[in-house]
Amino acid sequence: MAKIKWRSGTLLAPLPPALVSCSDGERDNLITVGWTGIICSDPAKTYISLRPERYSYEIIKKTGEFVINVPSSHIIRSIDFCGVRSGRSVDKFKECRLTKETATEVKCPMVAESPISLECRVTDVIPLGTHDMFMADIVAVNVDERYVDEKGKLRIEQCSLATYAHGTYFALGKKIGSFGYSVKKKSTKKRK
Ligand SMILES: Cc1cc2nc3c(=O)[nH]c(=O)nc-3n(C[C@H](O)[C@H](O)[C@H](O)COP(=O)(O)O)c2cc1C
Repeated sequence: MAKIKWRSGTLLAPLPPALVSCSDGERDNLITVGWTGIICSDPAKTYISLRPERYSYEIIKKTGEFVINVPSSHIIRSIDFCGVRSGRSVDKFKECRLTKETATEVKCPMVAESPISLECRVTDVIPLGTHDMFMADIVAVNVDERYVDEKGKLRIEQCSLATYAHGTYFALGKKIGSFGYSVKKKSTKKRK
């Protein structure tokens, strides 16, 4: 079987359909963002790429702050809604009945229904073409305590994470390995 060559495009999958919150101090807004990722570990840095015509673009450009709320399948309908309706004409928090939580470092709210919320402060805005890339420092990470065990470990498999691939949302399912498992020595302990 050979691969078919298509013209240049954005077919990288899966991606997180991140629910990004922002606020101009008077109105809080939500926007779904697929063009996001981690670009540095230390300092922890991320980016979101936004089209200048988005209502959220204006807000984030002005305030330099946003929160990335990691998507869970429990709120996937709201995530889709926030990606097809503009905050110019609808209060998306209200319409989706999502709960605002006060962030610790930035002035925009986090989404309580998301298991992980990353507070971000913009460091650079890079015009790229259709989208401008907002590079940002991750200034705080907030994890829902329900998913942290007694040893302080995040049980991410319990977070019902959702993902986005080629226009479709999926619920993450089966665990198939963990970091470095391919080279890990097998335990020599004898079973009783
Ligand atoms: C799954 C999904 C991913 C999206 N990714 C992006 C993105 O990365 N950048 C962007 O500018 N718009 C993206 N959008 C579109 C915006 O979320 C959409 O235009 C939204 O209504 C803008 O809201 P606002 O005008 O309130 O800011 C995406 C939409 C969906 C459904």
